[in-house]
Amino acid sequence: MGINYSKFRSSTKFHNLRRSISSVNLSSTSLIKKNFRDDFKFIDGRRYHNVENIYYFFPNDEQEIDRLQLQHYMMRFIWCSNFSSPVRDLLDEGGARVLDVGCGPATWVLEMASDFPKCVFTGVDIVPVMPLTIKPQNANFIEANLLEGLPFPDNHFDFTYIRFLNCAFPFNLWSTHAIPELIRVTKPGGYIEIMEWEVEICYQGPITRRFMDAHVRIPEKMASFLQDSGKLKNINNESRDSPIGKHGGKVGTLALENSISAFKLCESKFAEELGMSLEEYNALFDHYKKEVDEYKSQVRTHRFWAEKI
Ligand SMILES: C[S@@+](CC[C@H](N)C(=O)[O-])C[C@H]1O[C@@H](n2cnc3c(N)ncnc32)[C@H](O)[C@@H]1O
Repeated sequence: MGINYSKFRSSTKFHNLRRSISSVNLSSTSLIKKNFRDDFKFIDGRRYHNVENIYYFFPNDEQEIDRLQLQHYMMRFIWCSNFSSPVRDLLDEGGARVLDVGCGPATWVLEMASDFPKCVFTGVDIVPVMPLTIKPQNANFIEANLLEGLPFPDNHFDFTYIRFLNCAFPFNLWSTHAIPELIRVTKPGGYIEIMEWEVEICYQGPITRRFMDAHVRIPEKMASFLQDSGKLKNINNESRDSPIGKHGGKVGTLALENSISAFKLCESKFAEELGMSLEEYNALFDHYKKEVDEYKSQVRTHRFWAEKI
């Protein structure tokens, strides 16, 4: 695919992006609610959400925030854009309301708010890891749980975005709770966009396949979830492949590091789902890291977007 990641990292655009994010000290306590002890719990030195009845099991500490930020830059580089929905003219014109659900450290919201200063951006997450005070004037953040209903009226947003929440809900809740709520808060004529990893790594070897088998396969169902809602039209799905492993240069190496961090965080869960001990899982994991180069594996991300009827 000819991705020149080192060129991208040395570009002014990358440094401006990095600077605009790092000037917001996301992990500083001044940006986190004063009662943050109630918001978080700590296990084995990592910080996690402390919200009841939440399925999401990844941490939300500085290390994870760094991973999510790097992942954002990788996605922007691979896709050469922050969204695929046909809303650019609307955003350029101004006056639109945009929502990012499960915004995490809000890298997408911060960039979009500075790219489209005449629109208003709202990020929602179950934990306050987003910047609550130092932020562009047209960006707001609210703590809320998508599965309990978002604190917005019906038909409120022109563009509703959600990215990488495949570990946030059991599979069936996408069609019964998550998608209906995204539709409810979006205006008729407005767009909903969902971005997710493809579970199947392309050109995968036998060990990689075993890892992938422990995942829930969201993207292959997403188009039918959107179709079955009966409230959306112009449903689109686009995907991009990019290398994973040293064979893919810097972007491939970063993608592998990203997947290693994610797999390590899920090791007990995945080992259980694969019916193996942690030692067996880790041995398999060491093979996986080599196999992606042997098979020249590629990782696929999807964007789904649709217009509300
Ligand atoms: C993998 S992160 C993705 C963050 C961001 N969308 C991005 O692409 O960088 C998933 C985020 O979803 C949030 N989350 C999980 N369950 C949620 C729920 N039920 N409602 C709202 N946010 C949720 C998590 O706290 C986490 O910040």
